[in-house]
Amino acid sequence: MHAPPYETARDAASHLQSRFGDAPPVAVVLGSGLGDFADGLSGARGAAYGDLPGFPPVGVEGHAGRLVLGRIGGPDGTPVAALAGRAHLYEGHDPTAVVSAVRALRLWGVGALLLTNAAGGIRDGMRPGDLMTLSDHINLSGYNPLRGPNDARLGPRFPDMSAAYDPVFRRILAELGAAAGLRLHEGVYVGLAGPSYETPAEIRMLRTVGGDAVGMSTVVEVIAARHCGLRVAGISCITNLAAGLGQTELSHDEVKETALLARSAFVGLLEAALPRFAAEVRP
Ligand code: HPA
Repeated sequence: MHAPPYETARDAASHLQSRFGDAPPVAVVLGSGLGDFADGLSGARGAAYGDLPGFPPVGVEGHAGRLVLGRIGGPDGTPVAALAGRAHLYEGHDPTAVVSAVRALRLWGVGALLLTNAAGGIRDGMRPGDLMTLSDHINLSGYNPLRGPNDARLGPRFPDMSAAYDPVFRRILAELGAAAGLRLHEGVYVGLAGPSYETPAEIRMLRTVGGDAVGMSTVVEVIAARHCGLRVAGISCITNLAAGLGQTELSHDEVKETALLARSAFVGLLEAALPRFAAEVRP
């Protein structure tokens, strides 16, 4: 039996406070291929999830499972928490476990959360290596992390999701993407549980219902993040054309390879965006 979500997150947060001091204003969850973003942080120090109470055990290739604290832009730069690796529904985790780190960050004092992921591109004109700011999502994972008794200390029973992806953060990302000349789209992310990739018929359906990209993470984290009052942004790396839209079979190797190719553009965008997000949420 798991401990109740609030108590788990509160204990995790007080562990983070005593180990690392005050929370940074912003945190970023690093998707496939981005894990070593954390190594570039100034004064980086961290801990494996396994050594942090309330953090999930993670075990997918390309997902390390490490929380790293450091600064962007040198020793006097913006403090950030980077989560290299996340728990996925397809690993068999309970949705509460998938979102436990998000809640711990919030109770620690983090104000904004940027979630990154790898996704298959559905919308016409997307190419592998492009980036997409999430404007919204469609949760087709079959799970909701808020199912069960609600603890009002975390958030409301029926949280609003009408502007889940913060409009100010979206505008900042669009500005930064344009200034850097990036191929940065904005669109709707469809979250499925996986782990099989979609069929071509499923992709045609997802396109019809308004999906622009598809992946196996992020949506339950965003629901939990909004529930507990975090301001949220999301960016997908379009690592492949979704099933039936390209000439090749889908593979995790292709996903990882393309994520690595897009890495420097992606990291540049994160390094520019996170200080701007921090400035928005600082008291
Ligand atoms: N489908 C689902 N998840 C993904 C994909 C995809 O095409 N690419 C990267 N993650």
